[in-house]
Amino acid sequence: MQTELSRKLGVEYAVFGFTPFPAVAAAISRAGGFGVLGAVRYTAPDDLKRDLDWIEAHVDGKPYGLDVVMPAKKVEGVTEADVEAMIPEGHRQFVKDTLAQYGVPELAEGEASGWRITGWMEQVARTQLDVAFDYPIRLLANALGSPPADVIDRAHERDVLVAALAGSARHARKHADAGIDIVVAQGYEAGGHTGEIASMVLTPEVVDAVAPLPVLAAGGIGSGQQIAAAFALGAQGVWLGSLWLTTTEAELTSPRLIEKLLAAGSGDTVRSRALTGKPARQLRTEWTDAWDDPQGPGALPMPLQGLLVADAVSRIQKYEVEPLLGTPVGQIVGRMTSERSVQAVFDDLTRGFEQAVDRVNRIAGRSEEQ
Ligand SMILES: Cc1cc2nc3c(=O)[nH]c(=O)nc-3n(C[C@H](O)[C@H](O)[C@H](O)COP(=O)(O)O)c2cc1C
Repeated sequence: MQTELSRKLGVEYAVFGFTPFPAVAAAISRAGGFGVLGAVRYTAPDDLKRDLDWIEAHVDGKPYGLDVVMPAKKVEGVTEADVEAMIPEGHRQFVKDTLAQYGVPELAEGEASGWRITGWMEQVARTQLDVAFDYPIRLLANALGSPPADVIDRAHERDVLVAALAGSARHARKHADAGIDIVVAQGYEAGGHTGEIASMVLTPEVVDAVAPLPVLAAGGIGSGQQIAAAFALGAQGVWLGSLWLTTTEAELTSPRLIEKLLAAGSGDTVRSRALTGKPARQLRTEWTDAWDDPQGPGALPMPLQGLLVADAVSRIQKYEVEPLLGTPVGQIVGRMTSERSVQAVFDDLTRGFEQAVDRVNRIAGRSEEQ
């Protein structure tokens, strides 16, 4: 499973894995893919340093990358307190009432939520980059827009390839014009922030729009058959996020959440603004229903919504309040039916890929058994 891009990066499989967990990122790279650590939750540079040190010690010299979130619309010069002040009282009351309705306990004193807005601020992403550029990362990816020109230059000076996620051909073209190296075409099916175009339509559109730039197909990929389909659509690799959430290396701390993921079908997610204010695919829960209810106040725009619900989300997760408990995840959740190691997932992906290629070869009349 080699493409020009996988050869350039020196990986055995053109399978890129986005994950917020260092142990998963390292395991993906060790298995022959390319692990990409999501940095958005690292608001303290020392925490990122600690986890990159850990990856370095466990990746067996294999290449890996980092993903930051620098939104195209900047919130520079604005503090969390400024954003707090912009949240309407009615919305705060709605959060209080909803949590009270489900009897969600308070956080203990000093227990802050992990989901602050700061990870989405350019100045915070820049501190993450200051740390990351001291490590031999081979790829820097950005969600929610093209990275600024000076960041692209800084990456290129260090021989780091720059990728950006795109949900439409128009976005992809903007990234190409900005001078990035790889476009991640992320379809509607994907977990996390996502656009409105399905991968089947989006991938070839983006491939054509940015040729000869390499494109990674993302969204709805969880089997080798789907990887083969992505290559058929012109992708030079695939970018998977959801599938790793139920691997044994993932540090999801809530057993109930893992059970919910394993039980969920492909129709059990929703693209909702409940979490961040921008449409993000996640498990459908009574929490997302409350925000999506036309009778309710509705979600605020980013970054207000993220800050409004930060503590609430932490409380729901800590106390595992079943009806409200969710996570970003894509429609592929329907295929995530058992906890497996990253290596076992890879074995399954490569086996499925070979079967799909054999099948297509038979159909095309290229197989010896024909
Ligand atoms: C739990 C979770 C968190 C995510 N957070 C980010 C993020 O911080 N930055 C980013 O570029 N993409 C993020 N994504 C999107 C992934 O990078 C990827 O594009 C997506 O998961 C691919 O589709 P799939 O979920 O169908 O595999 C996230 C996805 C999930 C499931």
